[in-house]
Amino acid sequence: RRTLRVALLGAGSVGSQVARLLLEHQSDLAERSGARLELAGILVRDIDAPRDAELPRELLTTDAEALIQSADIVIELMGGIEPARGYVLQALRSGADVVTGNKALLATHGAEIFEAADQVGASVSYEAAVAAAIPIIRPLRDSLAGDRIKRIFGIVNGSTNYILDSMDRQGLSAQEAQRIATELGYLEADPSLDLEGYDAAQKAAILASLAFHTQVSLDDVHRQGIESVTADMIADARRAGYVIKLLAVCERLSEDGGDAVSVRVYPALIDREHPMASVHGGNNAVFVEAEAAGPLMFYGAGAGGVQTASAVLGDVVSAARRHIAGGVGVGESARQSLPMAPFGHI
Ligand code: NDP
Ligand code: HSE
Repeated sequence: RRTLRVALLGAGSVGSQVARLLLEHQSDLAERSGARLELAGILVRDIDAPRDAELPRELLTTDAEALIQSADIVIELMGGIEPARGYVLQALRSGADVVTGNKALLATHGAEIFEAADQVGASVSYEAAVAAAIPIIRPLRDSLAGDRIKRIFGIVNGSTNYILDSMDRQGLSAQEAQRIATELGYLEADPSLDLEGYDAAQKAAILASLAFHTQVSLDDVHRQGIESVTADMIADARRAGYVIKLLAVCERLSEDGGDAVSVRVYPALIDREHPMASVHGGNNAVFVEAEAAGPLMFYGAGAGGVQTASAVLGDVVSAARRHIAGGVGVGESARQSLPMAPFGHI
C-alpha cells in the first residue's frame, strides 16, 4: 500500500483533534482511502503551548517550509489570511492537495487559490469551512449540480448561536455565554469575527459562490453582527413569540437564472414555531431551496474541534483517493468552486 505524507498546519481546537484522529484511526483511514496516511509533521507557533489532545512532541515543528515541501496532502487549520495564504499557495505549487477549514481565506482569496490549484491540477477541499460537521459543500457542489438553487438561508455560525441561545433559554449574560463558547472551542482566535458577523458573512459568500456558480467575496455581503443585541431585546422577542438568531441569506434575485444575487447576514426575529428556533447551542441549520429538489434542510454541529475534525478527515480521505487514482478525474474537478459566470449585483 502506498504511503502519502500529510502535513498539518495548526494544532488548535480543530487541528489537535485532526492529528489525534489521524493517528488513532490510521488503519481505518488506510482501508478507506487506499493509502497509508503518514502524519509527517504539525506546524505550530509554540511547541510548548498546552493542547486539547496529547500529540507526539517529535511531530511538532515551527519549520513550515520544510514540512510543506515534503507533503502530498497539506491540511491548513491555522486560520487567518497570512501566513495561511502563502503556505497554501506554496503547497499547491509543490503539487500537494490542500484541505482547509479557513473560510476567511477562501472568502477573500478564493479565486487566487483555486486558480493556483488549477494550474498544477491539485485540489482544494473545504467541507469544514462552512457549518463545521454538516456536509453542505459537497451537496451543493455535487449532489445539487444538476438543479437550480433559488435560495439558501439559515444559521451558519455556532458561537453566536450558542451565545444567543444561552441568553434566551438560560438567562446567561452575553459575557458568560461567550466565556463558555470560548472554552468549547467555538470562537475564532479573534472573537470579533464571530460577534460582528464576519465569520457568517465569509461562509455566506462561499455558499453563494457555490450555489449560484458565481464569485461572491466577503466585500459583497451585507453584514450586521450581534454586538448590539441586548438581553432586553431577547426578552421582548420571547414575549412576542420570537427568538433572535444570526441569519445568513443567499438568494438569486432573478427568476430566469440570471446572475444577480443578494447575500446578507443580520440578527433576525424568528418565529418560535419555525425549525430554526429549535437550533440550540453550537448547532447550525442550513435550508436550501432548489427548483427541482424543493426544500432541503441540513442540521448539526456548526462549531467545535472534534466535530469539525470529522469534515476535515472526510476531505483528507477524498484527497488521498484522488492522489492514488493519479489526480483529477475521479469524480471531482481540481477546481471545486469554479466561478461559471461573472458576479452580478447585490
Ligand atoms: P486555533 O486558534 O485554536 O488554532 C490555530 C492553530 O494554528 C494553533 O495551533 C496555532 O499554533 C497555529 N498557528 C496560528 N498561526 C500560526 C503561525 N503563524 N505559524 C504557525 N502556527 C500557527 O484555531 P481553530 O482550530 O479553532 O481553527 C482553525 C481553522 O479552522 C480556522 O480557519 C477556523 O476558522 C476553522 N474552523 C474552526 C472551527 C471551530 O469550531 N473552532 C470550525 C470550523 C472551521 P499554537 O498552538 O502554537 O498557537
Ligand atoms: N467560529 C466559528 C463559529 C467556528 O462559531 O461558527 C465554526 O466555523
